[in-house]
Amino acid sequence: MTLTEIIRKKRDREALTAAELDYVARAAADPKTPDYQLSALLMAMYLNGLDTRETVDLTLAMAHSGDMADLSGIRGVKADKHSTGGVGDKTTLIVAPIAAACGLKVAKMSGRGLGHTGGTVDKLESIPGFQTTLPPDAFVDAVNRTGLCVIGQSGDLCPADKRLYALRDVTETIDSIPLIASSIMSKKLAGGADVIVLDVKCGSGAFMKTPESARAMAKCMVAIGSNAGKKTAALITNMDRPLGNCIGNAIEVREAIGVLSGKGPADLETLCTALAAKMLSLAGAGDDAHCLFLAKDALQSGAAKEKFAAMISGQGGDPDVAAHPEKLPVARYQTQITADRDGFLTAMETRQIGEACALLGAGRQTKDDVIDPAAGIRLYKKTGDPVRRGDVLAELFAGDEALLPAAKARFCDALTFGETALNEVPLIFDTVNA
Ligand code: URA
Repeated sequence: MTLTEIIRKKRDREALTAAELDYVARAAADPKTPDYQLSALLMAMYLNGLDTRETVDLTLAMAHSGDMADLSGIRGVKADKHSTGGVGDKTTLIVAPIAAACGLKVAKMSGRGLGHTGGTVDKLESIPGFQTTLPPDAFVDAVNRTGLCVIGQSGDLCPADKRLYALRDVTETIDSIPLIASSIMSKKLAGGADVIVLDVKCGSGAFMKTPESARAMAKCMVAIGSNAGKKTAALITNMDRPLGNCIGNAIEVREAIGVLSGKGPADLETLCTALAAKMLSLAGAGDDAHCLFLAKDALQSGAAKEKFAAMISGQGGDPDVAAHPEKLPVARYQTQITADRDGFLTAMETRQIGEACALLGAGRQTKDDVIDPAAGIRLYKKTGDPVRRGDVLAELFAGDEALLPAAKARFCDALTFGETALNEVPLIFDTVNA
């Protein structure tokens, strides 16, 4: 078997065997394999697709291309959630404590932000002292003690995906359902959880722009998880507007603490309780309605907030932040954006809002950029809201005053106004079960 034979087969629209896809994953993990061959294969896969069986086989091969997390030392059902990426998406900070408060074990590896999307690891690192790198035994120990631990991807997890993802990024082969699904699910499978709940984002701030493409993606990811013996389900959720009202790092932690303290915002709370409820029902805690009750109760009773504080303390941070979010970093400079007309905010180009936030210093253009934990955006109006001339639409925060004008221009460019109110759009479009 050679890579050129495999490239030719996929170029000619033939299905690849499990053995060939295993060869591909091993070749991708091998630094000696030339970029040009892997890039040619990726383009052939992008143009001619992979069927469900091929996607499952590629995912399993990539998952086994490096280290697999060993969670066998954790007692109880290990549950994970994953979002396909969005703007203002701080759900892990709320869902993980809710799930832990309800008795699940959340041993989670999260990512950093890149481009217009934020990353949970960056948000957590805005908490003074918080460690997102732990040795494997300390990770297992923290989960056994507190029920949850969220760290950055560690060890040599999915080296095949690391290589292929970097090549896809520069060869215009990112937005392919089988390639995205196998990339994300290989890391989830290597992460070792028994239960996986996926939040497949759909809309102007997401990879998938339409509910149909998001549904196809969700079905593909659920099929991969189920084939690998994991209890898997997906929610398809609205990313045509940012989630919650805050975008950034410390500012999103502050908003998450708000939800954990029973102070909304409603869209964020609704999505978090739905995701946590799905984790619980897959873990066998009862039917969907009962699990939603359990999730809401964990918020209302304060049990989830206690878990959040326990997680901070277990990972070296200042747990007092949960009760005193004013201890989080605050930006030195700010500017307000106001409406220059009466009417309705009819659309937000969510990707551009994420980009505006990155321009403030809250995100990275390349993976080596250093982020400013205090930078960010607070929204006062979102899609569908009525506005009057002079209303504050948003506040932008930065550590460097010079960053404000470009971010402000990008933000304003993302907004569309109209004369008439919009029909209500659902927050959760659909659920895909195995
Ligand atoms: N996130 C990933 O990990 N992989 C993709 O292909 C897209 C988003």
